[in-house]
Amino acid sequence: MQPVLDYLKKNEARFITELCDYLRFPSVSAQSKHTKDLAACANWLVKRCRDIGLETKLCPTEGNPIVVAKTPRRKGAKRPHFLVYGHYDVQPAEPFELWKTPPFEPRIEKGRVYARGSVDNKGQHLAHLNAVEAYLKTGTELPCDLTFVIEGEEEVGSKSLGGFLKKNIKELRCDAVVISDNGLPSVDLPALTYALRGILAVEVILHGPSRDLHSGIFGGALDNPAMALCQLLAQLRDKNGRIAIPGFYADVTPLSAYERKQLARLPHKDREMAKFLGVPELFGEKGFTATERRSARPTIEINGLTSGYQGEGSKTIVPSWARAKLTFRLVPNQKPDKIRDAVLKQLKKLCPPTVRMEIKAGHGGEPYIVSPKGAQAQAAMRALKSAFGREPILMREGGSIPIVNDFKKHLGADTLLLGLSLPDDNPHSPNEKFDLACYTAGMRMDACLWQELSTV
Ligand code: BES
Ligand code: ZN
Repeated sequence: MQPVLDYLKKNEARFITELCDYLRFPSVSAQSKHTKDLAACANWLVKRCRDIGLETKLCPTEGNPIVVAKTPRRKGAKRPHFLVYGHYDVQPAEPFELWKTPPFEPRIEKGRVYARGSVDNKGQHLAHLNAVEAYLKTGTELPCDLTFVIEGEEEVGSKSLGGFLKKNIKELRCDAVVISDNGLPSVDLPALTYALRGILAVEVILHGPSRDLHSGIFGGALDNPAMALCQLLAQLRDKNGRIAIPGFYADVTPLSAYERKQLARLPHKDREMAKFLGVPELFGEKGFTATERRSARPTIEINGLTSGYQGEGSKTIVPSWARAKLTFRLVPNQKPDKIRDAVLKQLKKLCPPTVRMEIKAGHGGEPYIVSPKGAQAQAAMRALKSAFGREPILMREGGSIPIVNDFKKHLGADTLLLGLSLPDDNPHSPNEKFDLACYTAGMRMDACLWQELSTV
């Protein structure tokens, strides 16, 4: 192992340069104008994997290609097989004007690299690839076989990957999946995440008059779709922060006393968080702490709300339509299909007869939970401890990586979530960054992980 760790240290500067090269591709999967950039980014990754010494394929899909890279297989003895998952697509960088420097021109400042995709997720999976390079280039024998699966559609719901896994079960079946696409409380407090929330996206459009109308001439004689939408959305959450949809909480698995104790160990102060987020006060479901609310309780969020005239000055109209994009985060045992039915039923019930409602039910993803007490989870905890030099804690995360359920369903494997993202890294926001201390600790963690995991 020491040669691997020495190699990682010696090559640190190059690993940072390569991360910056990777970050220059504007691989934004939500925007079709970037399709070519996604392909170019995937090609860069293929070359990088081949340079490391991995047997690498670029697998086309109906969407963006998937990169599959394997460590050289050894004939004879069967060894454990682990899969490392990541995504090379990134979120849109808008609003550009809020970035201190352009999102696809990486900038290094005070030990952090600033760029869209730096933490979500290019830097995190590159840390794993670098560690494997260290094994292969130093001739240190890996105790297991590894397959990297890096996709280009995670930020838009992983539409191709589920089918791809199903078609390639034989090749991809593995003993565990390892993902770093989530967070840790601080560099001094590494963590194993054992649960993720699921998601359900719904778009509601209220259609009013067939065209925008003069609000002085017609206002008062008909409903205003923007007002109707506000009133409708306001009824979806009560004053205690609970979602007011019949049956919504029916399947929620309550948090155990053990879990509440674990979550309470996470560093958190309401006032500090409010300051960090720029809000006067925190808000959330009554009876739960902020940590519980954002990781282990279901939520409703309005992600976008649009209607009427938003340009300079005023324009006195009754708008023709109003629309809102909503997402619900779901917790273990809630089923996106069942929740979708309950949500649609309630939306229809609340819709007044004065407007016409159109609903677009979008992507859904199941929540995920795995026992943190299992042997693989414990092995991952040991790897975290060696790499970060601190005792790791257990946590749940509020974000979603729906594909982890497909790994379980198709490949029979649990996922170990070993996040390298710090709370202030700004994923999906302007000035996203990745801390180079997490990058290097991530490489060491990966190096230790295969040793620990292969013995259980
Ligand atoms: N890396 C995130 C998921 C994440 C973030 C997990 C923080 C845990 C903690 C991932 O790239 C992401 O943004 N996922 C989407 C999923 C959606 C598009 C289906 C999300 O959570 O909004
Ligand atoms: Zn993301």
